[in-house]
Amino acid sequence: MSQEIHPAEPSEHSRPSELPELSEPEVTRRSADVAESSRASRGWWDRNADEYQNEHGTFLGDDRFVWGPEGLDETEAGLLGPLDDLAGLDILEIGAGAAQCSRWLAAQGARPVALDLSHRQLQHGLRIGGVPLVQADAGVLPFRDGSFDLACSAYGAVPFVADPVQVFREVHRVLRPGGRWVFSVTHPVRWAFPDEPGPEGLSVAASYFDRTPYVEQDENGDAVYVEHHRTLGDRVRDVVAGGFRLVDLVEPEWPEWNSQEWGGWSPLRGNLIPGTAIFVCERD
Ligand SMILES: C[S@@+](CC[C@H](N)C(=O)[O-])C[C@H]1O[C@@H](n2cnc3c(N)ncnc32)[C@H](O)[C@@H]1O
Repeated sequence: MSQEIHPAEPSEHSRPSELPELSEPEVTRRSADVAESSRASRGWWDRNADEYQNEHGTFLGDDRFVWGPEGLDETEAGLLGPLDDLAGLDILEIGAGAAQCSRWLAAQGARPVALDLSHRQLQHGLRIGGVPLVQADAGVLPFRDGSFDLACSAYGAVPFVADPVQVFREVHRVLRPGGRWVFSVTHPVRWAFPDEPGPEGLSVAASYFDRTPYVEQDENGDAVYVEHHRTLGDRVRDVVAGGFRLVDLVEPEWPEWNSQEWGGWSPLRGNLIPGTAIFVCERD
């Protein structure tokens, strides 16, 4: 499934009328396959895109490249390569949301394409404007082999898919030889702790080694939100299985200037345990 996004009337901060409110979902840990995970993600992000952009849009900025709740900015991180080298590159942003990162890339002279599964997220991309948007699943990229010089993702798609190797193989296919693939995810160690910003989020409550997905399901038992846990070692093996070399693994520290909480990410926890892992990979 893929489609180019055409201007629709993104009635700002209003819930898409065709999506009914869900009753309170049940939280559980159980398996969720590729199709169920994808279906749940699309529904959840369509339903919650307005709230997400409302809550985090200012922190993200319309045209900044922020890797995660710590606020690490690509302008200072340089994980995609030297700033001056981005001009003229074809870059795919995966799980782009409202395409803030792509807008920053365009400002550096690159040619970004922002891809996301959620139509509503992309409508916010359209509202801000300025970059090409494509609606598709990261597991089936609608591009020819070797279409891009670089691929990136700030918390997009990878934490939500049941088969990350499938995504990595697709990224590998659409990249040109030597291309970088840089993505951020929740730091795997966080899965051992409650997802709470306060002191209750500092005590180990679950096994780090339990890969059973986190699932919220409706009254019919259908998943409405899914996140998949991979240990640090799993992620490294997945990257290699996808055809990449891992060249860096960045664990941003919580900076002094950032007093803002983002869900379970907070200054309190950020000063003690890592919250984000950024994988810098290269294709042969
Ligand atoms: C946490 S948001 C991050 C959005 C954006 N990168 C940012 O930093 O604000 C995760 C995004 O991944 C998208 N996503 C989830 N599963 C996906 C999939 N299988 N394929 C493509 N995008 C997906 C969601 O729709 C959502 O926009």
